[in-house]
Amino acid sequence: MANKEFLPPSHLKASAHVSSMAQYKQMYEQSISDPESFWREIAKDLHWESQPSDKFFDYNFDHTSGPIFVKWMQGAKTNVAYNVLDRHIQNGKGDKIAFYWEGNDVMDEKKITFSELKTEVCRFANVLKDFGIQKGNKVSLYMPMILELVIAMLACARLGVVHSIVFAGFSAEALTNRILDAKCCAIVTADGMWRGTKLINLKNIADEAIKRCKENGYNIDHCIVVRHLSPNPNELRNGNSCTQQIPAKRPCYDLKINWDSSRDKWWHDLMSTKTDEESKKCPPVWCDAEDPLFMLYTSGSTGKPKGVLHTTGGYMLYAYTTFKYVFDYHDDDVFWCTADIGWITGHSYVCYGPLVNGSTSVIFEGVPYYPTAGRYWEIVEKYKVSKFYTAPTAIRCLMKYGDEFVNNHDVSSLKVLGSVGEPINPEAWLWYHNVVGKGKCAVVDTFWQTETGGHVLTPLPGATPTKPGSATFPFFGIRPAILTAEGKEVKGPVEEGYLVFKQPWPGMMRTVYGNHERFETTYFKKFPGYYCTGDGARRDEDDYIWITGRIDDMVNVSGHLISTAEVEAAIAEHSAVAEAAVVSHPHSVKGECTYGFVILNDGFELTDKLITELKCKVRTKIGPFAQPDYIQYAPGLPKTRSGKIMRRILRKIAVGDTDFGDISTLADESVLGLILKHRPQTI
Ligand code: WTA
Repeated sequence: MANKEFLPPSHLKASAHVSSMAQYKQMYEQSISDPESFWREIAKDLHWESQPSDKFFDYNFDHTSGPIFVKWMQGAKTNVAYNVLDRHIQNGKGDKIAFYWEGNDVMDEKKITFSELKTEVCRFANVLKDFGIQKGNKVSLYMPMILELVIAMLACARLGVVHSIVFAGFSAEALTNRILDAKCCAIVTADGMWRGTKLINLKNIADEAIKRCKENGYNIDHCIVVRHLSPNPNELRNGNSCTQQIPAKRPCYDLKINWDSSRDKWWHDLMSTKTDEESKKCPPVWCDAEDPLFMLYTSGSTGKPKGVLHTTGGYMLYAYTTFKYVFDYHDDDVFWCTADIGWITGHSYVCYGPLVNGSTSVIFEGVPYYPTAGRYWEIVEKYKVSKFYTAPTAIRCLMKYGDEFVNNHDVSSLKVLGSVGEPINPEAWLWYHNVVGKGKCAVVDTFWQTETGGHVLTPLPGATPTKPGSATFPFFGIRPAILTAEGKEVKGPVEEGYLVFKQPWPGMMRTVYGNHERFETTYFKKFPGYYCTGDGARRDEDDYIWITGRIDDMVNVSGHLISTAEVEAAIAEHSAVAEAAVVSHPHSVKGECTYGFVILNDGFELTDKLITELKCKVRTKIGPFAQPDYIQYAPGLPKTRSGKIMRRILRKIAVGDTDFGDISTLADESVLGLILKHRPQTI
């Protein structure tokens, strides 16, 4: 079944930007053989205040011949906020809806046009300017999925200020580390937020992070707080930036926040100082194409997160192009990407990609199963969403609730269904295709990474015959290869190898912020001349590429990459723990989850209470989403003679598989039986 091909729907083909494999191949060939002309032509759709001074692009992927670097359109001047707002307004699209905002609560909704969005962005950019924040400074955004987050991002972009968004599910400690590493001069947050039935006091977490920064000798002078949850649940919410508000009866809640008036400022108070026409204007700061646009932290296999740095021109060009072709964007589309803006998918396909194309999109604050498992489809029906983009985890979760939640809604507006973040199993793919898409939509399984900035392997809706579970073929400008462990390229079908890219594309990361050496080591040292994704892949007899999963010590839990080393470090902080090892374990909804083995110090026993404490350690050091599902006692760990933990074996023990394969390098075999004996029977 998984090898069955699904042809692009004929009703999409007729109007598609790319409507056949022949056209895809011809465009692809050009993008590879003459990248400069290919991207130069596309760049004409966007506004450049001045053209590149020298080479259109330049790079070195081989560290043995000098430092790694990637540059696109260096010397060209542009501004991303100008391109996503002013350019459309000048083209007569000012009154088009940029976003429909749908709150966690079914009664909460707002909408904002491109013109209104520009006004808010300029107002907030002027607020930042009042604080003396300027080009090159960094600002941390720790916010819910609300319009103010997009406004803050674009205000930064307008000024050339670099935003560093921290997903609002991260803990105070994770936020602290990211603020310190990026040296952010200000933080924008909100009082609190609802996620389904859970109330989260964001301001308290931000306060805690600011306090910890101070303890590390680093002061945050400005904390700007959006009043998202009114102190009175039945009052109107923040009355600043939106055109439509519906008062609603809400559950009672108790959100106590602390206030340091020398540092904390309400967003609406600051914005209300910018009311007259003049103060709502803010000329864009022209940035070099290679000036940083944002940084975003992603897990590193050593445990310390990496600040992935993206730049202005190339990222914008790539977000523009991938959004246009992968979702086959047309002017009358309503696009909805369910990802949180705190992850790269939200950066590229909630904010930048749709906006730079002038698309109307939905931003949703809540979760897929609140108040019911029909929420996604209710929203699709309400806004007539035509292009929908979500993660396999969400699909698997909703699948479990049954088809009627979809069937109760009119989802006939859907045309393209995207998947991202983790391998999608054929069963979930087929459900997505048949039940959500009624067999009439194109399913695009898009493979990419925080580092790649946008899609790199993906079908195109009007062109590519798809196979459930395969991310199919490279996007324009991407030259993939599959290497053996020795670094040899394998042509034709291959069972499994390392997925690498041979040539740069405009949207790829430029460095790890503050640590270029780590950038080189992580992505280029293993195979000189190639960007190494860290993923395994196979290629079938029809040249389709199938991602087989991470080949490093990372676990993909619900589409969130988690470093096992980081989870281990969190657990090992507990005084009861002598040593911890964490591995991946299959999970029917999350795809993978983490499974911890702990060696305890003398006098300790692994009680339920201790397990809860260890899970709590992970929640507070990283965030709730990283919490291990299982923790078991281990009297010892399987190690090689040189002391390296053999995780391959621990992964087997975690699933109860005793077929260990070659264990000749193991220092002490007897430990295996002992660990197995303590494996919980309930898994
Ligand atoms: C995994 C998310 C299989 C992969 C955009 C990658 C996928 C990591 C897919 C990046 C897919 C993402 N099929 N695996 N379609 N998309 N991945 O940085 O392991 O959060 O390296 O970026 O997710 O995760 P990140």
